[in-house]
Amino acid sequence: MHPMLTIAVKAARRAGSIINRASQNLERLTVTRKAHSDFVSEVDGAAEEAIIKTLLDAYPDHSILAEESGNSGDASKSEYQWIIDPLDGTTNFLHGFPKYGVSIALLHRGVLSQAVVYDPVMDELFTASRGGGAFLNDHRIRVTKRTQLGESLIGTGFPFRDFTHMEAYLAMFKDVIPRTAGIRRPGSAALDLAYVAAGRYDGFWEMGLAPWDMAAGCLLILEAGGMVSDLEGNEHFLKSGQVVAGNPKIFVQLLQIIAPHLTEQLIAENRPTARQVK
Ligand code: IPD
Ligand code: CA
Ligand code: CA
Repeated sequence: MHPMLTIAVKAARRAGSIINRASQNLERLTVTRKAHSDFVSEVDGAAEEAIIKTLLDAYPDHSILAEESGNSGDASKSEYQWIIDPLDGTTNFLHGFPKYGVSIALLHRGVLSQAVVYDPVMDELFTASRGGGAFLNDHRIRVTKRTQLGESLIGTGFPFRDFTHMEAYLAMFKDVIPRTAGIRRPGSAALDLAYVAAGRYDGFWEMGLAPWDMAAGCLLILEAGGMVSDLEGNEHFLKSGQVVAGNPKIFVQLLQIIAPHLTEQLIAENRPTARQVK
């Protein structure tokens, strides 16, 4: 295993034990609301602190982009940037709904190079290094070989905080549903993407994501032989927060159904000048 991935795994497991411990006493947690339907507990902060400490103890010069504490270190000086979601699926976690995980990715000169998604409930560790394949608990994983959308299980995430693109999303949803074998919305984008890599879904799409929701999951998919793009089929997914993914055959079919529903605003958000990964 690449030494930087080993450190990321250590960080993810530490966060996982903090999360597991806290899950045994959910009533005791202090929950605050960051925005509409955007809740956070002290667990998110504690897990993030443990991750950052583990990474910086090993690599003090690296820079960080983390959901709860934002940017630290000097991204313009360091070639390495860690992108961290300490607890993806916080709403699930707070309700005792067991679908949440830790997501840690490393960008090297802006290129996704290491990825960890860890599900502490199932003790499932998804890892990937650029060029080295994707793994689930040390077993190689690959995307599915299914070619027919009608036989495919598709994951998605629908708007629940920001409703700007609700109409466009519902139009996509309406068009996708009857063409698939089923749609799932468990509520953790990081796990959703890892599930595409592991062949549990044949495809996935969502918009309005942050880089920390998807950076690790996207590398897992690419290393598992899948495809990832933004909703226009280009590579600006980390910047735009829009993602379509799947095995190569299903990815193309999904994109063809979704693309006609893109609004001018969605297309504008998708261009390179839109939201930057800092
Ligand atoms: C959320 C989850 C969810 C997705 C949201 C994310 P959080 O992350 O990944 O599945 O639909 O857009 O914000 O807030 O639980 O870390
Ligand atoms: Ca998240
Ligand atoms: Ca989170």
